[in-house]
Amino acid sequence: MTPPTPGDLDIDARYACAKALALEAAQLGMDFYRRREALAVEHKGSDRQDVVSIADKRIEDFIRARLAERFPEDGFLGEESGSADLQARCVWVIDPIDGTACFVNGLHTWCVSVGLLVDGQPHVGAIADPNHDELFHGCRGRGAFVNDTPLAVSAATHVCEGLTGAGTFHPRGKEHFIPFLQKLLGEGGMFIRNGSGALMTAYVAAGRLIGYYETQLKSWDCLAGLVLVEEAGGRVNDFFRNDGLLHGNPYLVAAPGVYRQLAQLIGPSLDG
Ligand code: IPD
Ligand code: CA
Ligand code: CA
Repeated sequence: MTPPTPGDLDIDARYACAKALALEAAQLGMDFYRRREALAVEHKGSDRQDVVSIADKRIEDFIRARLAERFPEDGFLGEESGSADLQARCVWVIDPIDGTACFVNGLHTWCVSVGLLVDGQPHVGAIADPNHDELFHGCRGRGAFVNDTPLAVSAATHVCEGLTGAGTFHPRGKEHFIPFLQKLLGEGGMFIRNGSGALMTAYVAAGRLIGYYETQLKSWDCLAGLVLVEEAGGRVNDFFRNDGLLHGNPYLVAAPGVYRQLAQLIGPSLDG
């Protein structure tokens, strides 16, 4: 049976809620950020670079409670508190702080990311960056914006024409990263890593970066941003294959003129 179209769901209410919630959660994040010296920072696993604080947990609890109140029938997946009702037609996928390592070290590149899947497709995204007063947002079929300004990806046709976001984390292995950087530089390209996958994705949608490759991301890092990139005319890889929603995957988003070139520089590990 063909799934019903989102027409019978209140997408307007969910889009408005995503934006408002991302902004409110980002202000809560700012309260913690101003007092960050007092935050106890924990390491999540064996990777000493993977950190979390009470701010991450409190912000996720705040978002989760608000969504449960507004849309009790919807599912939820968050970085800090796990999942519920993933079989629902609407599933919220959120990262309370993307860029936690930046957050705890006083670097201003972190954000709150609120995404919504509808019938398994990224449909709504809101990414709030309170340090720069920017709210990136978009909804399938309605375009993408930063605050009120429409977003469009770069017109670049070669990697030498702009900056490419690049990122990795230790468990994935540097063999998926270093060769890419070498080839990118060999083509006259240049990389940047700001520590927030959600923001780098938003910057691709905004045309500030021509593309962004990460050796492995989780769905909460990128779901909101995927909506923005697609609505701004960009290309995205097959991130959701093989249970990508739960386990993550290698990730590439880019302007159409450089997507193929970047995919070639990455090689078969991208969609293999
Ligand atoms: C991290 C950021 C970073 C990426 C890491 C992610 P977190 O998310 O998106 O840019 O390189 O792989 O885990 O831990 O700050 O939410
Ligand atoms: Ca993240
Ligand atoms: Ca996070």
